[in-house]
Amino acid sequence: MTKTLLRGRVLSFRSEPAGPDDADAYLYIEDGALLVADGLIEGVGEFPTVAAQAPDAVLIDHRPHLLMPGFIDTHIHFPQVQVIASWGAQLLDWLNTYTFPEETRFADPDHARAMACAFYDQLTAHGTTTALAFCSVHRSSADAFFEEAERRNMAMIGGKVMMDRNAPEALLDTAQTGYDDSKALIDAWHGKGRARYAITPRFAITSTPEQLDMAGALVAEYPDCFVQTHLSENRDEIAFTKSLYPKARDYLDVYQNHGLLGPRTFLGHSIHLEPREIDALAETGAHPAFCPTSNLYLGSGLFDDAGLRDRGISNSIATDVGAGTSYSMLQTLNEAYKILQLQGQILHPLRAFHWITRGNAAALGMQDRIGTLEVGTDADIVVLDSRATGAMALRMERAETLAEELFVLQIMGDDRSIAETYVAGVAQSNVSQIRAPENA
Ligand code: GUN
Ligand code: ZN
Repeated sequence: MTKTLLRGRVLSFRSEPAGPDDADAYLYIEDGALLVADGLIEGVGEFPTVAAQAPDAVLIDHRPHLLMPGFIDTHIHFPQVQVIASWGAQLLDWLNTYTFPEETRFADPDHARAMACAFYDQLTAHGTTTALAFCSVHRSSADAFFEEAERRNMAMIGGKVMMDRNAPEALLDTAQTGYDDSKALIDAWHGKGRARYAITPRFAITSTPEQLDMAGALVAEYPDCFVQTHLSENRDEIAFTKSLYPKARDYLDVYQNHGLLGPRTFLGHSIHLEPREIDALAETGAHPAFCPTSNLYLGSGLFDDAGLRDRGISNSIATDVGAGTSYSMLQTLNEAYKILQLQGQILHPLRAFHWITRGNAAALGMQDRIGTLEVGTDADIVVLDSRATGAMALRMERAETLAEELFVLQIMGDDRSIAETYVAGVAQSNVSQIRAPENA
């Protein structure tokens, strides 16, 4: 079997950096290499040492670029690839005007398959190798999502949304069909290869209490599945939720009452939280998913990262395309930096790059497989070019430290900085070129 030797500057995190000077938190090798075989990282270290491990390996020289673990996006909507950049509304209008109509198109399996292909092309072009994603209400959309991920050997997590009210008829399931279809998808996909299932009640507004009961029953039956939904994104959404669930103590209580909270639960946005909700997040180990470009775009509000972290809550970070305005986790960090600035908080570059790799992996409980370059883990790797644009190259002339370089990528980087993405050891630039005509 052919082995591949990737040469470049290697950067991988061991733990969350406590501050800009915490060099113990990461491995950085100036002339480094990764030995990749059979989809796994078989060696990591100084180039001469790793090269000697496999003299016959095919060498790919990525110098002077950085080799990092592929990025992880913990909240994204697969059926919204053609919704991104839809103009002029806040959450509920945006959903009704643009998003719901677009998602009805995913009833057509051919459309879903074509969009799944386009979706993964975008993810890998932006350096993302794993995502936790919402599909549409249609079971076939989730099949398309998982089939295409399987073809590319990507570690993807997703689920069909359960929604049985407050949306167009064509997008509604029922408490029973939502349960049955989710169960069938779990049986078909959860744990198949690199796929994992996420039980996905869209949000409290689009589910009846009966449907949330059924979602809770699935969580009880399949405790190793993920759960994903939305929480406290927008003031009108919160008011509407409270009117639909008048007995709930607060928004989060709706999910808590139905057995949906635990360490495998991801709650998109989690912006306007009450003290009791923060207590409940800390107690249950559920993860807020911070979606900076989306929160600015829809005017939703400012996520209080430090406030939640101080309570021991582990926040993940995500794009939320199509309300999010970029697939790039680098651009996501850029906007995150600014949202935290507005609140007197700081996102230093080492913590930022830990967050989109090992940090998100740890929130998912997958840090032993992804978000790291340790030997024995999956060879999902991104190759980063800090001088991808003229403006970046100019700035980089004055950058002296690794942290400064990372900050240039964090603020100015996007897909142009992704020189290559490897999924389970396979370079995706080639995969897309081969597949594109077939699927056009
Ligand atoms: N809340 C319920 N559905 C959605 C969605 O598709 N996008 C966002 N941003 N919020 C939601
Ligand atoms: Zn969302």
